[in-house]
Amino acid sequence: MLAKCADQRDTAVMPPIDLIVNGTAVSAAVPDSTTLLHVLREHLNLKGTRFGCGVEQCGCFLVMVEGAAEKSCTKPIWSVAGKAVTTVEGLGTRDRSHPLQIAFLEEQAGQCGYCLAGILIAAKALLDSNPSPSRSEVAEALDGNICRCGSHNRIIRAVQKAGEMLRRNPMP
Ligand code: FES
Repeated sequence: MLAKCADQRDTAVMPPIDLIVNGTAVSAAVPDSTTLLHVLREHLNLKGTRFGCGVEQCGCFLVMVEGAAEKSCTKPIWSVAGKAVTTVEGLGTRDRSHPLQIAFLEEQAGQCGYCLAGILIAAKALLDSNPSPSRSEVAEALDGNICRCGSHNRIIRAVQKAGEMLRRNPMP
């Protein structure tokens, strides 16, 4: 299925940019300089990824591009043409949640939740490369993610718990 999105201002002159978002082929007819975050939120209605500071300082903008955590708030859409993007919505479903989602719920690792999309993506990138991180390794990996509610201890516990779950039952 090919989903389409279009920016009404420029559809006549802009060749669409194709990419894969959460496993679905999409085509974005927007100016090249449009940020990936804008396309995700305003054209694809994927509101999980947040706009925070807009200058790469808060971490709530993280998505995975080809398996690596990237800053969607400043990344121009042209730079992800043809690539696979995973947002927080793509981590898991209600029926088949990612262990990070389960652990964050069990640990109540968040209050307002504004930061959590970026933290979940940063945590996934960490666990993909290190499924058994120490407390300090989790803290270091999440250093760029600001949580204004002060949920840090519960967030770190949840990431370590998700690592335990993944070690027992790896995701395919
Ligand atoms: Fe509110 Fe982290 S839970 S910013």
